[in-house]
Amino acid sequence: MIIGFVQTKGGTGKSTLAVNTAFSETMNRRFSSIALVELDPQGTLKGWWEERDEMDLDPGKVSFHHISSTQKEVFQQGIKSISDYNELMIMDIPGESTGKLHTRFACAFCDVVIIPMRMSTNDESAFMNNLYPIIKEIIRAVPEKNGQFHVLPAFTHPLANLRHCYDYFKDILPPQIACLPAVFPARTVYENFNRKGFNLNEYAKLVASNKKYTQQVAKAREDIERISQTIISMGEKCDDNR
Ligand SMILES: Nc1ncnc2c1ncn2[C@@H]1O[C@H](COP(=O)(O)OP(=O)(O)OP(=O)(O)O)[C@@H](O)[C@H]1O
Ligand SMILES: [Mg+2]
Repeated sequence: MIIGFVQTKGGTGKSTLAVNTAFSETMNRRFSSIALVELDPQGTLKGWWEERDEMDLDPGKVSFHHISSTQKEVFQQGIKSISDYNELMIMDIPGESTGKLHTRFACAFCDVVIIPMRMSTNDESAFMNNLYPIIKEIIRAVPEKNGQFHVLPAFTHPLANLRHCYDYFKDILPPQIACLPAVFPARTVYENFNRKGFNLNEYAKLVASNKKYTQQVAKAREDIERISQTIISMGEKCDDNR
């Protein structure tokens, strides 16, 4: 299965979601090899992975790959060969910084594309102006891709009602884009460990003696497991429709 997190708007949680779904229990139970692929020249995950290497943290089934070549063939061949050798591939796909062609190719290569988006008119218009035209082009070229694009409401209030978020996006999204029946709530816990090379599970162990942090991490882990399960079921649905 090939999953992509994409957004042309920066800072919506793509990299955080890519990392933590790759290390989720759901994905690790289901897949025997998991490739976490960063297509962002910014190299956020590359730096994060280097931190892990320095601390000698066990990657388990997850391998990391960074592809940022501006040469079309190198870029496309890189993605294809990683997907050949891994049962699950999770891509962190940037928007404008790599160029439209790269974004389009990576999104078209996915079985399921997740677009984390805040409930804000700013994010919505950025999406309609930048990413939606790329998605329309993909669907025009390959009509079977219709049904593979899902918005994930991001940074929602921790107490926000899932149904409310779902209905909100269903109302405003164009027909080719669905809303994932899951949310990625805002949790301060991500600010604490993201930069240090840990994933949520490792961070949970680190703070095991602190009750407040432990509760926060437990909630964040529940979010990630629910998101991972929902993505898998969407990916399977797309598979059945093909
Ligand atoms: N659910 C969350 N709640 C609160 N903060 C979060 C959450 N997810 C991520 N963050 C924080 O928000 C910031 C942006 O997240 P992240 O780097 O994952 O976004 P991105 O979409 O990959 O950004 P970029 O466009 O720069 O690549 C980071 O500081 C991260 O720690
Ligand atoms: Mg990022």
